[in-house]
Amino acid sequence: MSYPSRRAFLASSLAALAGARALGADADSKAGPATKPSTLPSTQPTAPLAVEDAAFQPSTLFLTWQRDPTTTMTVQWIGVTGETADTRVYCSTAVGVSERLGLWPMTATPKIKPYPMTDFKVFRAELTGLQPDTTYYFRIGKSSPIYNFRTMPARATNTISFISGGDCGVNSHAIANNIQAARQDPMFAVVGGDLGYDNGKSVDISLAFIRNYSKHMIAPGGRLIPMIPCIGNHEVDGGYGKKREKAPFYYALFDGLFPDTGYNTLDFGDYLSLVLLDTGHTSEIGGEQASWLENQLKARVDHPNVFAVNHVPAYPSYRKMGTTAEKGAPAKAGTGSGNRQHWCPLFDKYRVPVVLEHHDHTFKRTKPLIDGMANDNGVLYLGDGSWGRLRNPNTPDKLTHLAVTSRDYHLSLHRIQGQERFHIALDENGRVMDVGHSGQRTKGLVQVKE
Ligand SMILES: [Fe+2]
Ligand SMILES: [Fe+2]
Repeated sequence: MSYPSRRAFLASSLAALAGARALGADADSKAGPATKPSTLPSTQPTAPLAVEDAAFQPSTLFLTWQRDPTTTMTVQWIGVTGETADTRVYCSTAVGVSERLGLWPMTATPKIKPYPMTDFKVFRAELTGLQPDTTYYFRIGKSSPIYNFRTMPARATNTISFISGGDCGVNSHAIANNIQAARQDPMFAVVGGDLGYDNGKSVDISLAFIRNYSKHMIAPGGRLIPMIPCIGNHEVDGGYGKKREKAPFYYALFDGLFPDTGYNTLDFGDYLSLVLLDTGHTSEIGGEQASWLENQLKARVDHPNVFAVNHVPAYPSYRKMGTTAEKGAPAKAGTGSGNRQHWCPLFDKYRVPVVLEHHDHTFKRTKPLIDGMANDNGVLYLGDGSWGRLRNPNTPDKLTHLAVTSRDYHLSLHRIQGQERFHIALDENGRVMDVGHSGQRTKGLVQVKE
């Protein structure tokens, strides 16, 4: 943690950020969500094709990714067969004469598969071969509004910003945080488990979560904000140690990114990697996942921005960590024991700078840690999942791995600027609660257990 850097940041770019506009705080905090585009972008010269009474406006439409976000986008919604005649996704970098005549240069036909326990279907259309750092317009068939998205840049020459959080649910606080998240104009949002709390059983809750995301996670200009998920216990009927079939709604929506296991890495060109992990819900923490994790981290040891994302925290702020063996008493497993045994040594060894954690329903920033001990060259653990759920955290004087905790609904805004990363915790009113900083960990300065 470089405090001079943090002060410098606070004095410069955060000063602008902390103004009401950038964070959407204060005066307009009760304003409604951004609305989806009902007219063409103002740069388009002619009469709108998209109108407010567009016949087909799926309330569950959202974007996600299955592979490189610099050149692809996955458009997804839940609906019923036959509700619109043409479900193809038409896409273009502009809406001009050709598009108004119905001639769009790109078309993707969705794959259609069942949404569990219902007659609904999941419609999934992946657009590939896109240009990086480019705005695209798309519509579904001939009668939906025209939406827009932006591909990620090929290189991180300008600031990369994204939101992360977890433990959302579908209450008013989760919605308030959706609205604040969208106001930050993030390039995408990482939702680190416990999305709607459907528990693998409630169709209604699973749909309510997606509807809320679809309605509110819209950036200024009507840009849809893609969602990158990571599995939590409340996606799963039974929570832990279950087969994929016990997380039916999660995998119905996200088996494009997680086709075989509960974990995968999403690489953004060669400048950002999100290593999305499964804390024992549908994949064992040790064994194959730990071996896979080592290979993933080893292959990216010199990459500048490798973020690990997991639901259950290695260094909790609320739950108990368990005990180590002493005086003849055996060790007792606690929250995060599996992570600390199988994953943290790899984070230490392969220079992972930041781990995003959730599940404990608090705001937390740890000290940078190596093997659980404060170390200036250590791994920063940020959490702990309070998008829409709250608990009373432990305080740093009780748990030495903690630097800051609070009981607040919050999200983290991450800004990658050159060699530096800033991690800004925002409350549900958009106010800055905390600013953390992480530089690239330096190779060779940390002795870790082999
Ligand atoms: Fe949770
Ligand atoms: Fe959880």
